[in-house]
Amino acid sequence: MLKSKDLLGLHDLSAEEINEILNGAFAAKKFLGSGYKKSDDLAGRSLITLFYENSTRTRTSFELAGKYLGASEVNVSVATSSVQKGETLADTGETLDAMKIDFIAIRHPMAGAPALLASKVKASVINGGDGMHEHPTQALLDMFTLLEHYKKIKGLKVAILGDIKHSRVAMSNLYGLKKLGAEVSVYAPKTMMPRELEKLGAHVARSREEAVDGADAVMGLRIQLERMNGGLFPSLSEYARFYGINGEVIKYAKPGAVILHPGPVNRGVELTPALIDGGSSLILEQVTNGLAVRMSILKLLAEYRENNL
Ligand code: CP
Repeated sequence: MLKSKDLLGLHDLSAEEINEILNGAFAAKKFLGSGYKKSDDLAGRSLITLFYENSTRTRTSFELAGKYLGASEVNVSVATSSVQKGETLADTGETLDAMKIDFIAIRHPMAGAPALLASKVKASVINGGDGMHEHPTQALLDMFTLLEHYKKIKGLKVAILGDIKHSRVAMSNLYGLKKLGAEVSVYAPKTMMPRELEKLGAHVARSREEAVDGADAVMGLRIQLERMNGGLFPSLSEYARFYGINGEVIKYAKPGAVILHPGPVNRGVELTPALIDGGSSLILEQVTNGLAVRMSILKLLAEYRENNL
């Protein structure tokens, strides 16, 4: 049983809660493979997606997760909503809440926006990514992908390379992977590495090769061009040459190591096309698993609501 009406981040989730979501995702994945993708588990429930930033994977998978589970699902298009007339997030939330909705999946450029919304509404708020803070459902699907492949997370060595500083995916993965007993090493250009990451239990490597050395999984992160003020590296081609993951770098990982990336990928920048499309890549499996994980989260939050609200 989850301990909160909302899912805002992995920092505040216990290992037991994370495992419960991952276990539910196994059942959801089996359901997805069955061919007939309709159940009435969430019949009578309603889900709103409220995305203040662009998204393909997260928004679509929340919408499909709700539909496959039998919930009523509506997307609020921020570009054509009253947000454009200056309505505040709190007022938008209270307005949607007045329509007796059960779940709001939100993405927002401001860190903390989902927590603010959660404090204003009776609906369960799910963080679909907030600024540079957290992207918990992405990290949960990453962990599920590793668990499915390796049958365990404890003891795995996961290397995360790329724009760590601007990455909510990196932060959520660090919290979650450490709670489940994985080792995490990180590498980024100095301008893209936050301070004091060691205090969160990460090994901060001094080179790509050191980060990847002996890794079971190598995760590339997207260059967050939209969150940069510029000047953090000379050019995309130089980033690829000095910081990207390629066939030479991956030789330092364990034989059979898998490649992960949250997407969307800047092809040839964070990862070479040969690695993105190669046999070790689980990038598209991550997308499928995102649907399974979000189905699991919706079901567990519905259970919380039935028992506590
Ligand atoms: N990984 C991820 O959050 O992708 P989207 O931006 O497409 O949702």
